[in-house]
Amino acid sequence: MDPGNGSDVLPEELTASVESFFDTAPPLQGSSLISHKLQAFIDRNSKSSEGGGPVRVVCVTSGGTTVPLEQRCVRYIDNFSSGHRGAASTEYFVKAGYAVIFLHRRGSCQPYCRYLPEDSFLDFFELGEDSSIQVCQSHSTIVKKAIGDYQNAVERGQLLKLPFTTIFEYLQVLRMVAISMRPLGSYGMFYLAAAVSDFYVPWESMAKHKIQSSSGPLDMRLSQVPKMLSMLRKEWAPMAFCISFKLETDGNILLQKADMAMKKYHMHVVVANLLATYKREVIVVTDNGCINVCSQDEYSDVEEEMIKILVDRHSKYLE
Ligand code: PMT
Repeated sequence: MDPGNGSDVLPEELTASVESFFDTAPPLQGSSLISHKLQAFIDRNSKSSEGGGPVRVVCVTSGGTTVPLEQRCVRYIDNFSSGHRGAASTEYFVKAGYAVIFLHRRGSCQPYCRYLPEDSFLDFFELGEDSSIQVCQSHSTIVKKAIGDYQNAVERGQLLKLPFTTIFEYLQVLRMVAISMRPLGSYGMFYLAAAVSDFYVPWESMAKHKIQSSSGPLDMRLSQVPKMLSMLRKEWAPMAFCISFKLETDGNILLQKADMAMKKYHMHVVVANLLATYKREVIVVTDNGCINVCSQDEYSDVEEEMIKILVDRHSKYLE
């Protein structure tokens, strides 16, 4: 097995912009608790699995990052993503025996909760005669399954949830996760489904207080967020199996962009998807060619087949 992460030298310009991003980011709240949780999770899963071999651990990133416009944030730029892809994929990775670090946007879709109501949570419950709270009969099967699957994953130590909101939090936690997964070597996997901001306002040049509309039209220059995929591959976790996503709106450039990401960032797999069809169709791009994956019908998840393919690719990588 070859980490295949290309030349070991990162372009100086990239290293400098990454350093500057982290040096100027606001301090991560609760970083020692995150670090403690991560260490405990990795320690637990570094030991042998029931079958004897080491446990595979995947970091699933999910949901969109925000870009604050003010330090005491009233307004922000958001990224499109419900977190459904990451939540569904987490369930299938757990089913395949992986331990999952679910790095997700606060308030986005959660594993095992995808079928619970979005609008009125209260529709699921009713009051019993003795004023006890019960799940309505019509929803009980779905809720029982969700609770059972979720508790199994947690009790077996297969699920660690870490939240983020801003681009600063996301990249700081991603770096912590990646560095703590380094000892797992090639048993570690990254599945980067989060929609990550490409532009941001550096903390030191950000307005401290609410921007006043009385000052007239807003003229703002956004800096480019350094692409962290190269850092992940070359510095943070060079042996891990890395899958990134490519979302486009124009089908004519999708595969070309996915191919470019494979080569430029030395990804092992890129999952290409189009905004118009991403819920039911993806293309798994590997160095051996492309595999089209479509959901069978409106009740099945495209993630089920996709995760089988990715687990199989990871097994081959481990060989
Ligand atoms: O959550 P859902 O509503 O179910 O939607 C799922 C999805 C469409 C968001 C998902 O399938 C998807 O395509 N996610 C990636 C979207 C995206 O941000 O694509 P991109 O082309 O901008 O970025 C490509 C890759 O680079 C991503 O894996 C991203 O993690 C990474 N990236 C992006 C920007 C940046 N500054 N640094 C990065 O590392």
